[in-house]
Amino acid sequence: MNKYNNFHVVDHPLIRHKLTLIRDKKTGHQLFRELVNEVGTLVAFELTRDIPSQNISVETPIMETTGVKVDGKNVVLVPILRAGLGMVDGLIKLIPNARVGYVGMERDETTHEPVHYYFKIPKKPEDRHFIIVDPMLATGGTAIATANSLKELGATQIKFMCLIAAPEGVSAFCEVHPDVQVYAASLDEKLNENKYIVPGLGDAGDRLFGTK
Ligand code: URA
Repeated sequence: MNKYNNFHVVDHPLIRHKLTLIRDKKTGHQLFRELVNEVGTLVAFELTRDIPSQNISVETPIMETTGVKVDGKNVVLVPILRAGLGMVDGLIKLIPNARVGYVGMERDETTHEPVHYYFKIPKKPEDRHFIIVDPMLATGGTAIATANSLKELGATQIKFMCLIAAPEGVSAFCEVHPDVQVYAASLDEKLNENKYIVPGLGDAGDRLFGTK
C-alpha cells in the first residue's frame, strides 16, 4: 500500500507489457535499451502533465486560434550515472529542448554515504524544473543525495522518475523529500540482502550497456 501522497505509479497495460519484457532475463541489451527508453517516455508523459506552458496564437489554414507552447528549455533532466543515461533519449523525444545535467555518485569507503564524483547542472537552478532520472529506486540513497544537492544549489522544483521502485526506497525518499513528486512504472515487493529490487530486473546498468 502506498501511504505517500508524492509517490505515483503510472499504471497502464502498455507499460506493464513493456515492463514484463524488460524484466525478462532473456531480453538482450538492444531490446532492453529500447524498452527502457519507451517506458521512460510513457512515465514522463504523466510526470509532465503540469509542465510549464503558455498560450500562443496559431494560424490554421482556416482561422487564427489559441495554441500552447511548452517551456521545455527550462526543464533539466538529471540522469544519475550510469543507468539513468538509459532513459535520457526517451525523455528527449518528449521534450526535445530540455537541458541535461549529470550526476555521478559513489559510496564513500569510510562513511558509506553516497558522494558525487561528478555533478554538472545548468546555471540558475532556482528557475529550472529538474527531473532526476534513475531506472531503479532501491535504497533511495543516491536519489536522496541528488535531490539534497540540487536543493543546496537553490533548486525548488524537482521531480524524480524511475521504472521500478522498492518500498524501502520510496519510504526513505518520500520521508526526506515530501515536496518532490516521484513517478514509477512499478512498485515492486522489496529489496533482497544485496539491495537488489525483487522481483526487479537485475542490474539496470549492466543490462543497458551489456557489461555483464
Ligand atoms: N540497481 C539496479 O540496477 N538494480 C536493482 O535491483 C537495484 C539497484
